[in-house]
Amino acid sequence: MFENWISLGYLLSASLFIFGLKNLGHPKTAPRGNLLGASGMAVAIITTILEMNLVGEGIIGWELIISGLLIGSIIGYIMAIRVEMTGMPELVALFNGFGGAASALVALSESWRYIYESNNVPTGLDLTVIYIAAGLSALVGWMTLTGSILAMYKLKGGVTVFGKWFRTPTWGPSWLNSIKIIFFFSILVLIYLSLNDPTNATFLWAIIIISCILGLLLVLPIGGADMPVVVSLLNSLSGIAAAFTGFIISNSVLIVAGSLVGASGLILTFIMCKAMNRSLIDVLFKSFGSSEKEVLTRTKVGADSEEVAMMIDGAQKVIIIPGYGMAVSQCQHQVKEFADLLKQKFDTEVKFAIHPVAGRMPGHMNVLLAEANVPYEQLIEMEEINQEFSECDMAVIIGANDTCNPAARSGEGPLAGMPIIDADKARSVVIIKRSLSVGYAGVDNDLFYEDKTMMLFGDGKVMMNSLNSAIKEI
Ligand code: TAP
Repeated sequence: MFENWISLGYLLSASLFIFGLKNLGHPKTAPRGNLLGASGMAVAIITTILEMNLVGEGIIGWELIISGLLIGSIIGYIMAIRVEMTGMPELVALFNGFGGAASALVALSESWRYIYESNNVPTGLDLTVIYIAAGLSALVGWMTLTGSILAMYKLKGGVTVFGKWFRTPTWGPSWLNSIKIIFFFSILVLIYLSLNDPTNATFLWAIIIISCILGLLLVLPIGGADMPVVVSLLNSLSGIAAAFTGFIISNSVLIVAGSLVGASGLILTFIMCKAMNRSLIDVLFKSFGSSEKEVLTRTKVGADSEEVAMMIDGAQKVIIIPGYGMAVSQCQHQVKEFADLLKQKFDTEVKFAIHPVAGRMPGHMNVLLAEANVPYEQLIEMEEINQEFSECDMAVIIGANDTCNPAARSGEGPLAGMPIIDADKARSVVIIKRSLSVGYAGVDNDLFYEDKTMMLFGDGKVMMNSLNSAIKEI
């Protein structure tokens, strides 16, 4: 009888995970999505404890379970409260690592039982399934732990005890790729050997050590700007590790939750790769743009804030295009003030054009603008806003470059094929950045030199403050 209730508990928990994921798809419903996901996890924990107590062999260490729950909740609460919006990618990277480690540790404890206590060592098909799942869980879990910790240090930009090592974001010669492939296949061989000698501990420890090194080697050569793609991939791997562990301990909710995390992480990884017009293999194994920056030969005279303010006075529709430079100068509050001023003083229609990979992490612009209280309704995705540029009086680009570089339409160079914001189709364009220098892809931008473009050279925050003052004076 209890078995049926346990199955229902797991079903409820899996449904909460699925509805939670669905709600996470929109900024407005995302807080509810988070709550549903957390409730799903609470139901899963309670059901597992009940299953162990009522159906399984009973619980011999309540104090361990309760202290684990308490310590974990307190640490999670403090970290979530203290993290700043801009520190979110590091926190996500760290949590991915913990997720991978948790799965790998459960797999280790099961293997430990078989190897060191020779306790019910499985045979036949059970041996094959459990040992392959345990080996893969160890591979993915330990690799995710070390890779995620290194990713966190890289995202912090080397401002840590290991600062000297990680100040340069990329490291490693190209022959490192061959070593990664050799390591990967050697783990598969070790898993195969462990099937023939299931109580030999050497295979287990060798798999763990090689997986840890593999995680570091995977992340070491990747630059800070590509790190969001890697973090999303590691997130997916932490889910896959959990799903493998679910097979080892025959826990259906772990298999479902792990598969959901694995699949959604992979989808996000591919969405980001597509929006950057790069393949995952390129992100993981090849450097991008920075080593082959274009030499700039053209010049352009800069405009001043008063000139731009006069032009804006007559604009009925303005589209703001934020990019990485807005994040660097942290001028999102000044940008919000600018949008409010246009509305109040000139009754201008103001919208924000959001490119999926503007900035350096998924949703980077959305997070910053939400922090400045820009309403979600004003943030319009690229495909939708691109249709509006033909009737837009002025496009105001703040620290964006690649994401509105028309070179992407040319079919050549690193940006070829990357979807862009059609800012060049607006009647006039204002660009705020410090110089004519290239963006992340290293490609010069024709838009800077067009007659209808006014360049406001300077730091984003300084220029936005000056533009806002000029508008107030009109
Ligand atoms: P970028 O092309 O990187 O251009 C940003 C511009 O901001 C730079 O040209 C820089 O010009 C300017 N800037 C820097 N600091 C500034 C400051 N303090 N004040 C004003 N301007 C400043 O940015 P984007 O258009 O947002 O494109 C994003 C790029 O990153 C894409 O190539 C994308 O593929 C890549 N990427 C994105 C992601 C995600 S998930 N978002 C992940 C990996 C890579 P100056 O030096 O002249 O000021």
